[in-house]
Amino acid sequence: DAPETLKPRAPVVTIMGHVDHGKTSLLDALRGTDVVAGESGGITQHIGAYQVTTKGGDVITFLDTPGHEAFSEMRARGANVTDIVILVVAADDGLMPQTIEAINHTKAAGVPMIVAINKCDKPEANPQKVRERLLSEEIVVEDMGGDVQDVEVSALKKTGLDELIEKILLQAEVMELSANPDRAAEGNVIEAQLDKGRGAVATVLVRKGTLKVGDTFVIGAESGKVRALVNDKGQQVKSAGPSTPVEVLGLSGVPKAGDQLTVVENEARAREVAAYRQEQ
Ligand code: GTP
Ligand code: NA
Ligand code: MG
Repeated sequence: DAPETLKPRAPVVTIMGHVDHGKTSLLDALRGTDVVAGESGGITQHIGAYQVTTKGGDVITFLDTPGHEAFSEMRARGANVTDIVILVVAADDGLMPQTIEAINHTKAAGVPMIVAINKCDKPEANPQKVRERLLSEEIVVEDMGGDVQDVEVSALKKTGLDELIEKILLQAEVMELSANPDRAAEGNVIEAQLDKGRGAVATVLVRKGTLKVGDTFVIGAESGKVRALVNDKGQQVKSAGPSTPVEVLGLSGVPKAGDQLTVVENEARAREVAAYRQEQ
């Protein structure tokens, strides 16, 4: 076989941190949206997957996790979709139990971390204390002689956002992330549910190749044919390339988070692969 032609792809960044430390608010600020306002009780119930195009034209894919179970569940299924973790720590609250959990998950995944010290607009904010406290988790930020990048932000006042973007892009550049867009698609389920009007719907993060309307696929132990693709802005699209999150319609059942999507040549092959996976 001829070697694959790899092309640069967008970094996939997962936002983690203690409850209410401002993960969704930070993502809202970066996207210029207001997802938090629409959430029941201000609590994130599902994983949001979004792409942000920076002022410089670079694209970053963000995953907003409601809890760390989703992250570890996906890893348990062999789906290491995250390139970079943003650890959000509220500067007034400091390190909390779920912050430590997020740190441990990130370390276990071997993924580089950028610390976003949030809520720096608050009078009681103490970012220096956060940096010092991180030392006891063996996280040494650059200012303290280490190699973990940190940035002071306020999702509320929208400060420090450009610097955060800059640091993500810098980290991504070092990683030289690439994928071949010109092949049959492979991806992972981020979340899936049974939708009243639309049937089984899965949000899939395409890892390599390009997923197209009409493609025949296996997803977990379910097969299907792409009936429609919907992007993170709610628009129908014809295709989705590497690092793109997209809603896939046309599934025979509801897959699980982390399940792999593989495009195959025909329906007979899809049934064969699905049957094989069902036996596993
Ligand atoms: P969960 O998804 O429930 O874990 O919360 P989250 O981490 O996504 O936090 P969320 O964005 O829902 O924010 C929690 C609360 O903190 C909300 O009331 C926000 O308005 C507030 N908040 C978030 N960022 C900031 C900030 O930079 N400054 C101030 N003062 N408040 C903020
Ligand atoms: Na919240
Ligand atoms: Mg949230």
